[in-house]
Amino acid sequence: MKNVILIGFMGAGKTTVGERYAKKHGLPMVDTDWLIEERAGMTISEIFAQKGEDEFRRTETAVLQTLLSDTQEKVISVGGGLPLREENRRLLKQLGTVIYLEVNPDTVLKRLKGDTTRPLLQGGDVTRRVEELIAARGPIYREAAGLIVDVNGRSVGEIVTELEERM
Ligand code: S3P
Repeated sequence: MKNVILIGFMGAGKTTVGERYAKKHGLPMVDTDWLIEERAGMTISEIFAQKGEDEFRRTETAVLQTLLSDTQEKVISVGGGLPLREENRRLLKQLGTVIYLEVNPDTVLKRLKGDTTRPLLQGGDVTRRVEELIAARGPIYREAAGLIVDVNGRSVGEIVTELEERM
């Protein structure tokens, strides 16, 4: 399939970049978190609190399987933790071109200051958690991706242009 898929850490700009790219290319855009919220009739925070992270991760896989049976080419942004499951990385590759938007902890912390919608970043030492999660997930994102784009200090327009040049 020929979908354009954006992966990366929370705050990398997957949804924003995806929306801009989709608009410019006349493609529909979906975000796996939107699809999960729609299915569950709950927000991501409510799902984590009421059903737990494991159930959320199972739903991520189910959503990818549904997307595989959709033949309409589109831009897909996926939740930051979705590529962690090996099965999901395999499904992502089947879905299209996987692009890793690489972001550093400083950028994430600036962008997500005061954010209450990401259950993994509530309470405790958020700086440390972001640093540890990015360090742990970086190699996994790289393994999942066919293309890596550094997004630190760059505008949405610049990132979209780089994608167009390199795809
Ligand atoms: C998560 C990222 C979130 C969302 C959930 C878990 C993660 O999506 O799926 O809060 O594990 O990194 P965004 O990357 O769109 O913020």
